[in-house]
Amino acid sequence: MLDKETGPFDVGHCVKIPPVTLVDESVIVHRPQYRQTPDAEKECGIAPRNTRIVGGEDAPEGAWPWQASLQRGGHSCGASLITDEWLLCAAHCFPFPNENINTLRILLGHQSLELENPNGEVRTIAEIIPHPDFNSQTLDNDIALIRISSPVTFTDYIRPVCLAAPDSDVADGTNVWITGWGTIGSDESLPSPQTLQEVEIPVVSNSECAESYNVITSNMICAGRTEGGRDSCQGDSGGPMVGQNGSQWTQVGVVSFGRGCALPDIPGVYARVSEYQSWISGRVTGRQPTFVTFISDGNNTSNAVAPHLSYYLLPPLLTLSFTAHVLM
Ligand code: ARG
Repeated sequence: MLDKETGPFDVGHCVKIPPVTLVDESVIVHRPQYRQTPDAEKECGIAPRNTRIVGGEDAPEGAWPWQASLQRGGHSCGASLITDEWLLCAAHCFPFPNENINTLRILLGHQSLELENPNGEVRTIAEIIPHPDFNSQTLDNDIALIRISSPVTFTDYIRPVCLAAPDSDVADGTNVWITGWGTIGSDESLPSPQTLQEVEIPVVSNSECAESYNVITSNMICAGRTEGGRDSCQGDSGGPMVGQNGSQWTQVGVVSFGRGCALPDIPGVYARVSEYQSWISGRVTGRQPTFVTFISDGNNTSNAVAPHLSYYLLPPLLTLSFTAHVLM
């Protein structure tokens, strides 16, 4: 995670990674059912310890209870908890087709990667499912699912995030939060005690983003500032980009790639979570993640009220003008 100006361009290691084929797609059964129980809706995206509005760089303990670290000896990638036994990550975080998954670990409920984490849990990995259409050249579909070996019990420090449903609409200018233990500059590792970092960045339209990259697909979403200085960076990959609706947080992106980090006018690129509901629902077993329609017109800094909620709460006249406003 980077929150200041940075040095020279670098394309990042993620662009050179070979294709990943860990799963035999012929055995996949797609179950296009989107379960969304009222209970589950209340359960996802709530961070009981996240009481701040604007903040510094160190995330307070428990601020992002879905944040996980994928460990390969040490920290390798971020990931996000979406149910009691599944996490979302990036496909390019698994570049080694023959890797022994017994050597990998998932850290949950951790704030520091070095200090004691009284609220932390560690899990081994039972299954990794990279997206079958992940393209290691363009990084299209840079998304993967991880099943941990045994479920976690939700606490204030370990909780699932909501996922953006297909009808979500995140306009450019929408402020989103990105969290991770990645480098704080293209060549500057996160200093001891490696406290989870958070940064708030505006979403940039795909057309504007395409000015910085050869291939930006509709499966991607970008974020960055004209002045640069705030971005995800190496080691943040696989981690979540989340937007806020009141007290509920919804993941709209997965950290994927970027040219350098935090350079002016060069946004970071994220897998667009709202494109993947059917794939995710078809592969996740047991409890299902909760998909939430995340709509933001980009003119706000905090999306105080969920639009689909206000649709039901507002009187008809207001509803009309609200809808028109959102569609413009
Ligand atoms: N590919 C990097 C990783 O594996 C993430 C790079 C994100 N870069 C950016 N400028 N936002 O950790």
